Amino acid sequence: MTTPLIDPFARPISYLRVSVTDRCDFRCVYCMAENMTFLPKKELLTLEELDRMCSTFIRLGVEKLRITGGEPLVRKGIMTFFQGMTRHLDAGRLRELTLTTNGSQLRRYAQDLADCGVRRVNISLDTLDDKKFADITRWGRLAQVLDGIDAAQHAGLRVKINAVALKGFNEDELFTMVEWCASRDMDLTFIEVMPMGDLGNEDRLDQYWPLSDLRARLAERFTLTDLAERSGGPARYVRLNESGQKIGFITPLTHNFCESCNRVRLTCTGELYMCLGQEDMADLRAPLRASADDAVLEDAIRRAIAHKPKGHDFDYSRQKVDGQMTRHMSHTGG
Ligand code: GTP
Ligand code: 5AD
Ligand code: SF4
Repeated sequence: MTTPLIDPFARPISYLRVSVTDRCDFRCVYCMAENMTFLPKKELLTLEELDRMCSTFIRLGVEKLRITGGEPLVRKGIMTFFQGMTRHLDAGRLRELTLTTNGSQLRRYAQDLADCGVRRVNISLDTLDDKKFADITRWGRLAQVLDGIDAAQHAGLRVKINAVALKGFNEDELFTMVEWCASRDMDLTFIEVMPMGDLGNEDRLDQYWPLSDLRARLAERFTLTDLAERSGGPARYVRLNESGQKIGFITPLTHNFCESCNRVRLTCTGELYMCLGQEDMADLRAPLRASADDAVLEDAIRRAIAHKPKGHDFDYSRQKVDGQMTRHMSHTGG
């Protein structure tokens, strides 16, 4: 029996987020610069190495695997990787295999994902307005994402929409989005904008729409019941009594959830980030390549987890941005 992964703050690590590519077909303004320099392909872990890496984490007690990017579905051959992970689901070692996507490629891949045992997907969508969508994603087309959502639901995947709450951008769409999600039987989660990336982070203060405020607005029209249920990530949920739908809140700024953090992040080059909001990282590619014996890699993972920091230092409360990361969100996939 292997000892599970426990960090210095007694938090068991059971959730691995894997960014399989730093590339994306969109350029969301809060996530990437317009002219990004991407990693040369030779830097990437191969699909076989990604499989070995994830399988090792699963052996060490990871039960939830979320594939992210960049946009995970633009990585060439990625279905081969998903197909490989199916064996862990079948064996009961892995409880959930899922992904966070911008939805652009779901028309093509939704059925294959469902066939691999994926049951639900989180799709990032901040607005239902064509023009605003084009503005915020710079390169995206709303119609393509809506078509991807149709395909996902058609394939039987449960859909959760992730919307970054942005002041002056999607405030006026709060009820439209809530009603749209209800009409399609999709959950909806709002996220507070975090200071990541090198684009003038001072803009974050202007963009920041605290979810405490968003929640109060929702309460003007709906009766909110707090739910104890968790999806294994940082979201806290409420039920809107009138529509019966579930709304999630991810509140790194107004209510820090780090004390219950259960996750670490692997990048496409094999760096392990112990926290989204800190610089600490460990290289796992070298130990992976150093030996065919997984014991070397296991040892490196345990040493990395032993350095997991307590939490992020994001803070806007002093009318300035503190704790910011120059790393782009696309590097670790959120
Ligand atoms: P569920 O399985 O549906 O609970 O998903 P999740 O919330 O774990 O994953 P998702 O990719 O939908 O996460 C949404 C966003 O929440 C991420 O992109 C991040 O922006 C944010 N987030 C997730 N984990 C953390 C975390 O540990 N710290 C911070 N600050 N933000 C996080
Ligand atoms: N703050 C909050 N959420 C962000 N995302 C990307 N950048 C940021 C940011 N700076 C979200 C995306 C997507 C997920 C991967 O992370 O909208 O839902
Ligand atoms: Fe791409 Fe997602 Fe970043 Fe937007 S938030 S640029 S869709 S990785």
